[in-house]
Amino acid sequence: MGNRLVKTLSCVAALFSLIAITCYIALFNGPFQYAYVFSSSTFQDLRSRTNSQTQLQGVQQANRDDGYSCNCTTQTSQTVVQDGDQSNQDCANATQQLLQKAASPDKRKQPWYAEGRTWHYPVLFPRCSMDACFNFSRCTGDPEHGSKLLIYSYDTPSPPVKYFTGVKSSQWNTENASIACLFFVFLDLNSPHRPHPRTLPHWNDGMNHVLISFADMWKQRGPPPETIGFASVMASDMHETIYRAGFDISIPLPGKVHMRELQGLPPGDGRRYLLTFRGLRYLGRPSDEGVLRSAAEFRALHNGVDVVVVTSCRHATNDAARRDAPELGVHCEEDQALYAKYTFRELMNTTFGLVPAGRQPSCYRMIEVMSAGAIPVLVADNYVKPFDTLIHWHRCLIQFPSSHMHLILPTLRSIPSSELLDRQRYCIRIYNSFLKDDATLLRSAINALTARFLGAVPLALPMISTIDK
Ligand SMILES: *[C@@H]1O[C@H](CO)[C@@H](O)[C@H](O)[C@H]1NC(C)=O
Ligand SMILES: *[C@@H]1O[C@H](CO)[C@@H](O)[C@H](O)[C@H]1NC(C)=O
Ligand SMILES: *[C@@H]1O[C@H](CO)[C@@H](O)[C@H](O)[C@H]1NC(C)=O
Ligand SMILES: *[C@@H]1O[C@H](CO)[C@@H](O)[C@H](O)[C@H]1NC(C)=O
Ligand SMILES: *[C@@H]1O[C@H](CO)[C@@H](O)[C@H](O)[C@H]1NC(C)=O
Repeated sequence: MGNRLVKTLSCVAALFSLIAITCYIALFNGPFQYAYVFSSSTFQDLRSRTNSQTQLQGVQQANRDDGYSCNCTTQTSQTVVQDGDQSNQDCANATQQLLQKAASPDKRKQPWYAEGRTWHYPVLFPRCSMDACFNFSRCTGDPEHGSKLLIYSYDTPSPPVKYFTGVKSSQWNTENASIACLFFVFLDLNSPHRPHPRTLPHWNDGMNHVLISFADMWKQRGPPPETIGFASVMASDMHETIYRAGFDISIPLPGKVHMRELQGLPPGDGRRYLLTFRGLRYLGRPSDEGVLRSAAEFRALHNGVDVVVVTSCRHATNDAARRDAPELGVHCEEDQALYAKYTFRELMNTTFGLVPAGRQPSCYRMIEVMSAGAIPVLVADNYVKPFDTLIHWHRCLIQFPSSHMHLILPTLRSIPSSELLDRQRYCIRIYNSFLKDDATLLRSAINALTARFLGAVPLALPMISTIDK
């Protein structure tokens, strides 16, 4: 009896600490950081928890930024926990860790190798690989259903989005989860109340699940990394320092405008411009995402003759930033006037199309400039290029780190015209084979997933691409 009272009291105390920390973090750091801090300490690596036969139970509560909470109960799996104080110990530990994190000055502190750089998040997914975290037996097909790769797609948190909307009417779709090889989970739902992955009916610790997102940041719509278990990640915002090669897949943002009629224009003298960009820029501190388009070196690319690089600041996020800090809007008005002088379409008559990272390293311009037969010039850091297990990007695009934008023009001007032609041709072949429309993008995404099987699932071998490597 007394023991239970002690437990109840410590539970209540722990809950109060959690609430206090919630308020502290929400007030001083904003909701995303709160979500990260809370979840990282609560949902530790799924497998190590499972091994110790006990898991902190995630309980959904309303009005929470991350949708999850710990309420001091434990859930035992196979065996009974003998130490009656286990639950309190777990909760006390979680609380202790939260307090420690809350006390550290910067909860989004970057790893030591990336101080001051963007896109180096300290987010760590469980170390997974196909042999450790995937059940190949689900994919070998059965006589009844033939050799096809079968995919089950959930409608929660979101139904399929962008080029995945066709997946349910595709040859790969199955409504019968028991025969599915892969399970697609679409995370792009604009709601703060996201279900815990564990509540998905066929979750099975994420085995054979693929979490799909086009969000600018994992924190926006992804579940806390520690809750994803065995699932792999297929996202447009994919970073080399986080990406699990052979397991995760980088996917492109689809093009919004395609200008295939320009593909026949040869590079070099056959095209009006050398390098162009027309698009939005973002305002903020130099270390913020997307701010490279506002950097002096970026603006300096424009010469109004063969290089046109024009930007607009007109965007709700920028307007809000300028209300708080008007100095951020420096050059916005003059840049807007220049921006208005050119149309996107005329600027696609260019040998190179600039593809600068925006709010995420992935950019709609990539596919758009390729549609027009221009050679993409990527400016991005720590970025896994889309479908990089299928596409030999080095034969097409040219890439610069954001710290070396001053090298862009000298480099482009020094490329011999024969190489320009080779690159242009190869880019167009990549576009046609992998990127040209929604059906092609969906097929590429599924090919990228099945390429991970190597020979282990002979019946689901990926299609040999139509272009030589
Ligand atoms: C804790 O979670 C369990 C399981 O969901 C629930 O039954 C219980 O009422 C919760 N307790 C509190 C104090 O929220
Ligand atoms: C709680 O933390 C202590 C010290 O860090 C550790 O020895 C103990 O195993 C932890 N208990 C649980 C249940 O995680
Ligand atoms: C793998 O899937 C097969 C077929 O569904 C099932 O029989 C087996 O138990 C699974 N293995 C694991 C480790 O989940
Ligand atoms: C799903 O597939 C299994 C295995 O082939 C079969 O036994 C079951 O009847 C199917 N369920 C439905 C709803 O079709
Ligand atoms: C593209 O630019 C070239 C070189 O200036 C010009 O000859 C050609 O007419 C332009 N084509 C289109 C479709 O704008």
